Amino acid sequence: MASFTIGDTDFLLDGRPHRVLAGAIHYFRVHPDHWADRIRKARLMGLNTIETYVAWNAHEPQRGEWDASGANDLGRFLDLIAAEGMHAIVRPGPYICAEWHNGGMPVWLTSTPGIRLRTADPVYMAEVTTYLRRVYEIVVPRQIDRGGNVILVQIENEYGAYGSDKDYLRELVEVTRAAGVTVALTTVDQPVDDHLDHGSIDGLHSTGSFGSRVSERLATLREHQRTGPLMCSEFWDGWFDWWGGVHHTTSADAAASELDALLAAGASVNVYMFHGGTNFGLTNGANDKGRYLPIVTSYDYDAPLDEAGEPTEKFWALRDVIAKYADVPAEVPVRGSAAPTFEVALRSHGEWLPAAAAASGHDQPPTFDALAQPSGVIVYETDLPVDAFGGRPTAVLAFGDVRDRAWVSVDGEPVGTLSRTLHERVIPVPAGRRLRVVVEEQGRVNYASRIGELKGLIGGATLGGEPLTGWSAQPVNLAAVAGIVASGVDAEDASAIAPAGAVALSATFDLEAPADLFLDTTAWGKGFAFVNGFFLGRYWRSGAQRTLYVPAPVTRTTGNTVVVLELEQVEAPFARFAGGLDLGQTEE
Ligand code: GLA
Repeated sequence: MASFTIGDTDFLLDGRPHRVLAGAIHYFRVHPDHWADRIRKARLMGLNTIETYVAWNAHEPQRGEWDASGANDLGRFLDLIAAEGMHAIVRPGPYICAEWHNGGMPVWLTSTPGIRLRTADPVYMAEVTTYLRRVYEIVVPRQIDRGGNVILVQIENEYGAYGSDKDYLRELVEVTRAAGVTVALTTVDQPVDDHLDHGSIDGLHSTGSFGSRVSERLATLREHQRTGPLMCSEFWDGWFDWWGGVHHTTSADAAASELDALLAAGASVNVYMFHGGTNFGLTNGANDKGRYLPIVTSYDYDAPLDEAGEPTEKFWALRDVIAKYADVPAEVPVRGSAAPTFEVALRSHGEWLPAAAAASGHDQPPTFDALAQPSGVIVYETDLPVDAFGGRPTAVLAFGDVRDRAWVSVDGEPVGTLSRTLHERVIPVPAGRRLRVVVEEQGRVNYASRIGELKGLIGGATLGGEPLTGWSAQPVNLAAVAGIVASGVDAEDASAIAPAGAVALSATFDLEAPADLFLDTTAWGKGFAFVNGFFLGRYWRSGAQRTLYVPAPVTRTTGNTVVVLELEQVEAPFARFAGGLDLGQTEE
């Protein structure tokens, strides 16, 4: 049986010094039929290991409904890595950050009243223990000392940036060891003294997360991790994007020279990301450091493999660097064939948002969390009291907080929008009867203290300064709506003129063969798109992202259906498929 241990100066594979050359691929961001392809390409860049987080909320969106099949089949992902002759590193969190919804934590967990996240709180730890045991049932038999390929498991994630509860870290280690994990355990922190101090405990091997100033970072790490190999567990070779921002790119040359410095210093590495993939569906996270910035659908990350799995300039630059230090296979990835470009007219299915149930009498609009709706859309309605207007044509409607975007209308007439990003929560509304507020949860914060915050219309509503009560709420199941739309009932030809407002649209198309597609969203406003029932994710005119990636395995030769659930306004009623990724404007 093979062994992998931490020696005085190096990782030891079967007792011999070994450098970990890892690349991150999150199985939950890649279509499962593409896993093998992306893993192979990592080996062809010269990597010997694949690293993945485990996203708790992907496996258990509702408490007790654990799923480790299909797109959640972590065991199969690890086996495919093994089949490629590569090692694996598993980072099960329970908190993962990763620009992923709620940092990976299920909403049912974070909305548990009184729960103290990421601490030794017994209520929190009981749930974490159940979760980790399930993950380790998959990981334990696949460890290297049991004939598998898993060489390292990480405890928590950048914990030193968040807390300092060492009992919590100790309990995570106990659960991990009790479940049968025998490989070495690591922690990762940004190489800052405080973070490294708080983020680890004796017996865990500290590693760093950084993408530049390598020698300085390694020196700081060495002060905290006095013996054993130095490892950069997240070598940031690119960055993520948020709606309304630019598409971030970093120079391949700069990434290559930083990697060169790291490898020249003898360190081990995990390239974050090797292949970023996509935040399909409603899985994107958000940051909020004073301004709420939801992450876009693409997680391309400007990584060596782009969102569609094609090698970029960075792939070749990093491969050249790795070749200075290790054997790199002579084989190179074959480029996929060009994506078909075409345009189809969309049919309109009219308004797709439901009415809220008849007055259900909530004094305050219930949160997404109270309605067990992790993300997406809820429609709120109430009747406006006539006397609130006091004979005036308008009155001021105010909410404590809008999380995250609201479309306000009165008696069916649009009034305006409220954007959390712009700190908007007050709007004048015209005198009328029925107030309707459609709220979109745009992605849960994945970093720092706002993890687990409640979503929806928070802190109650007032009209003209008086509490506005009598709310009803209707959660919307977007996938179910898209399914009904795809069935084609009530469709009208929309090709002559774009229908006004929030409408559902669809089209069918054929292909010569299943293929990766790039759905151009620039003619649409804001909404959600599906192909053959597969939820591609959100689109938004605010960009920077302009195409949604459609993985080939969800397409077929005949009878493909694209469904668009528009919230604002389409400009042209067409679905255009572009020749490649367009992630938008980069910084000049
Ligand atoms: C940190 C986290 C990662 C990710 C990166 C930024 O290092 O550990 O999960 O959020 O930042 O992409």
